[in-house]
Amino acid sequence: MKSKLVVEHLNLWFGSKQVLKDINIEFEENKVTALIGPSGCGKSTLLRSFNRMHDLYPEARIEGHIRLDEREIYQKDIEVTDLRKRIGMVFQKANPFPKSIYDNITYGLKINNLTADKATVQKALEEAYIWDEVKDDLKKPATRLSGGQQQRLCIARTVALRPEVILMDEPCSALDPVSTLKIEELIHHLKKNYTIVIVTHNMQQAQRVADKTVFMYLGEIIEQGDTQQIFNSPQHETTRNYIHGHFG
Ligand SMILES: Nc1ncnc2c1ncn2[C@@H]1O[C@H](COP(=O)(O)OP(=O)(O)OP(=O)(O)O)[C@@H](O)[C@H]1O
Ligand SMILES: [Mg+2]
Repeated sequence: MKSKLVVEHLNLWFGSKQVLKDINIEFEENKVTALIGPSGCGKSTLLRSFNRMHDLYPEARIEGHIRLDEREIYQKDIEVTDLRKRIGMVFQKANPFPKSIYDNITYGLKINNLTADKATVQKALEEAYIWDEVKDDLKKPATRLSGGQQQRLCIARTVALRPEVILMDEPCSALDPVSTLKIEELIHHLKKNYTIVIVTHNMQQAQRVADKTVFMYLGEIIEQGDTQQIFNSPQHETTRNYIHGHFG
């Protein structure tokens, strides 16, 4: 099994506060990995380090290694825009541009000098399971879509750029159960083409979508492995307590 993204001895500080402590993970290609753990344990911080979102915060300091296909992503010669094209991100709250559905897809394509024709737009919308719902309304504002549709549009916008890795930070936390299940089905189908890392507070969701699960607590990885193993026979008491809802 090929490791697409490898994290080795990663430490991260905001000012003097250490938020990530000696993180080691290998994300396998074409698998879904769930990051779970109580609020504030560092899940989003870890996810954001994979596409260098912390570059914007002068108080953030990172040590250690993150490699995409064996290349250090924090090396000086890495273009951050190119990295973010290869490692796409979907956020907790759907954030479509205040533009038409069609232009939401073409915008990123144009910025990246990629073909932005109708066929490409259709393909991205089909891949994100939203084409049938919007095909007659492509010129309508994206903000008129439901929350679940907006989130699938944001996923379409991400896959349009043909990334290799897709990061999702609680992509369903603002959605109803039906929209949530649609996104979960979509994740299942996307992993054929992409390597996916998803942060979730929903233990059922982690078990439904993830091949691998990483449990974090206070900035450290307590335990990681196959999702079934983590949920059925956790090795650590903290993991057991968390997945049984005793805290978090
Ligand atoms: N830009 C920042 N500056 C300073 N501290 C930060 C910054 N971003 C996050 N933190 C701190 O880092 C720690 C980890 O935060 P993070 O957002 O990664 O947690 P999380 O596991 O994603 O939590 P949640 O489940 O609530 O989203 C927290 O203590 C938070 O206050
Ligand atoms: Mg978070």
